[in-house]
Amino acid sequence: MNTALVILAAGKGTRMNSDLPKVLHPLGGAPLLAHAMRAGASLAPEKTVIVAGHGADLVRAAAQDHDETAQVVEQTEQLGTAHAAGQARGALAGFDGTVVVLFGDTPFVQPETLEAMITAQADHDVVVLGFTAADPGRYGRLVMQGDTLERIVEFKDATPDERAISLCNSGVVACNAGLLFDLINAVGNDNASGEYYLTDIIALARADGRRATVVTCDESETLGINTRAELASAEAAFQGRARAQAFDDGVTMPAPGTVHFAFDTVIGRDTIVEPNVVFGPGVTVETGATIRAFSHLEGCHVARGAIIGPYARLRPGAELSENTRVGNFVEIKNAQIGEGTKVNHLSYIGDATLGARTNIGAGTITCNYDGVLKHHTDIGDDVFIGSNTMLVAPVHIGDRALTGSGSVITSDVDPDALAIARAPQVEKPGMATKLRTILKAKKAKLQRGS
Ligand code: UD1
Ligand code: CA
Repeated sequence: MNTALVILAAGKGTRMNSDLPKVLHPLGGAPLLAHAMRAGASLAPEKTVIVAGHGADLVRAAAQDHDETAQVVEQTEQLGTAHAAGQARGALAGFDGTVVVLFGDTPFVQPETLEAMITAQADHDVVVLGFTAADPGRYGRLVMQGDTLERIVEFKDATPDERAISLCNSGVVACNAGLLFDLINAVGNDNASGEYYLTDIIALARADGRRATVVTCDESETLGINTRAELASAEAAFQGRARAQAFDDGVTMPAPGTVHFAFDTVIGRDTIVEPNVVFGPGVTVETGATIRAFSHLEGCHVARGAIIGPYARLRPGAELSENTRVGNFVEIKNAQIGEGTKVNHLSYIGDATLGARTNIGAGTITCNYDGVLKHHTDIGDDVFIGSNTMLVAPVHIGDRALTGSGSVITSDVDPDALAIARAPQVEKPGMATKLRTILKAKKAKLQRGS
């Protein structure tokens, strides 16, 4: 059966106390909205519609950054979840499969859970995702009659008996598209909040003799984020899962609690991740690598057997081949580093291509930016760059070439050549002692005068 996703993300998120729309706050390095989109993407939906409202332009940009085919519709006034889902009607015109409604602030729903809902939808008209809450608080309550879901009652509208129900509404609903929009049309707003509740479609469906049921999941999947404190707890839960996954994948981490993962971090088997390492988005580390303490990686690829850090920074576009060495206080951005090449100390390599078995001396800098444009540095195989070399890009260093320490290299260096670009050394015999005598006499005179 074809599916479509509708993700509700128009709410302001007042309790976040933020200029940023709630669904754009990051979890594991990606906006909350992207997590909901990722969960839904496991159903291979034909269409994905995001309902945006507060900060719609920012929400649109983030949604399309995650999935350029996502459609974003605007709900200009937040009149309730049914009204919000109703905004997707136009975007889904002509679609006759199952619509799955998700909330943009609920990042942990698992693919298997959505799969189970789709399975249940095959012989029901409406399927709701429920969970047994340890503390049901203000969640909507699911009123069951055997396996049939009769209605959902919002906390504000519930009787004491209904409030005693611990089976709660997660907000996730699966329903045939045509039926969903017909039911939404019939929803009114005569309730404690004066809102159009999506939850009201259940009673309407039942009154029409439709079949409705519940699929349940663990409460941890339905965790919705409303405050900064909840965001921090969600981050902790996310990091806990990422660490557990890394252990399962065969990664060694002596201090797992100090390692920070992103939603898409991939680390190979037998890689060692030392304490206090941060993975931003877009990092892949192959097997048998070592990421030493206090390193920060984002948007980069580290091949087998490479040793990174301690205190290394790999920025977007850093591509490290097998057995490379990147040592302390080295920053690499948008650069390919060839097999076995070493950049061991205090260097900046940006917008560059380095060949194999090349050695970059301490303090080397690719001067890639002239204040307006970025330029490329190209270094061959088996090159030796002397310590504290400034490579003023664009510049090309041929294979097996060598640069003298402290050189400022402004023109290309041929293969096998030695380039030295610094002031020649001048030596004045006995001058150090003479100079010292003069200076001491000057000091003595000054002290007598005062
Ligand atoms: C909703 C459910 C409740 C459930 C709970 C689970 C309804 C009426 N209630 O309550 O049964 O237990 O979620 O967390 O559905 N939104 C819009 N436009 C609107 C209103 C909401 O886009 O006009 C979006 C919000 O941005 C949010 C989601 O819908 O992502 C849920 O809205 P919210 O107001 O948080 O619903 P709850 O009161 O938590
Ligand atoms: Ca909520």
